[in-house]
Amino acid sequence: SASLREHAAARGKFIGAAVATSPLANETSYRNIAATEFNQITAENVMKWDTTEPSQNQFNWTGADAVVDFATQNNQQVHGHTLVWHNQTPNWVQNLSATDMRSAIQNHIAKVVGRYAANPTVVSWDVVNEVFDDNGNMRNSFWYQKLGDTYIADAFRAARAADPDARLCINDYNVEGVNAKSTAMYNLVRTLRAQNVPVDCVGFQGHLATQYGFPGQVQQNLQRFADLGVQVRFTEIDIRIQMPRDAAKDAQQATYYRDVVNACLAVTQCAGITLWGFTDKYSWVPDTFPSEGAALIYDANYAKKPAYTAVHDALAGG
Ligand code: G3I
Repeated sequence: SASLREHAAARGKFIGAAVATSPLANETSYRNIAATEFNQITAENVMKWDTTEPSQNQFNWTGADAVVDFATQNNQQVHGHTLVWHNQTPNWVQNLSATDMRSAIQNHIAKVVGRYAANPTVVSWDVVNEVFDDNGNMRNSFWYQKLGDTYIADAFRAARAADPDARLCINDYNVEGVNAKSTAMYNLVRTLRAQNVPVDCVGFQGHLATQYGFPGQVQQNLQRFADLGVQVRFTEIDIRIQMPRDAAKDAQQATYYRDVVNACLAVTQCAGITLWGFTDKYSWVPDTFPSEGAALIYDANYAKKPAYTAVHDALAGG
């Protein structure tokens, strides 16, 4: 039957996946699924600061260009991830003075966004990532400690200057449902837009876990953001289970995937859904949560799981 990307396109949505460059270069099955099932891709790691600018003003485009070239060859779009984050940012950045750190942000965004500004494959960016802590306060990152919250508006303005046509997103986790953290995000986006800061889009990562339950009021949450005038999207969906897999857990996971897709389909301003990988062979989950895993829609041997069917059938309107 038709691919995920064919069904998504028919609904006017994207269906994306994060990709890792090593299997993309080396594994036929990985490459074929990435190319045929998805119409958008995100670099899982290689567009982050530690890869693109490992030392000051020394840029390395090898991985980023490989992802963009793959997407171009396969008629896909690329969502850029990510410009300003507290993880995977080199020590040289973290050790700068406030003035030099501000300049480093300007230069990094000008160079990274600027490289692809004229390239129609790269359509959007996570400008800032995970600026909140788990309570919905501003994360006490090295960015915040040195610059206060001003780095957020500065980063968006720099990205707009570097590519006036790119869609600029703020991205976070545990904001999928209505809760204190998503309300903090809502208030920040409203405030930034009132200040004419160019925030176009809110990304809801969606790192879910069946044992913690499905978030509450996901569709309503997407809609309240959309009503601020921003586009919304799921950016990093994976739905982990307590290992080992069994048929009941697979079935429960499939319902979570279905409900995520249906929430996006129900909101006009929801642009699409990106999964944080597609095969259980390559996932950050077991490295971070021992005893949890199997979070994606293909198993480690590239067989489709019930979660694949759930995403497929939801996109197909079934
Ligand atoms: O590249 C080095 C390699 O040289 C080294 O030998 C190896 C040893 O540990 O590490 C490799 O780097 C790893 C990198 O992934 C590339 O594989 C890092 O240790 C590892 O920490 C890093 O993990 C990534 C993680 O972000 C870092 O925070 C995951 O792959 C990636 O899936 C994950 O993605 C994040 C999103 O960017 C933001 N939202 C949450 C999401 C999941 O954590």
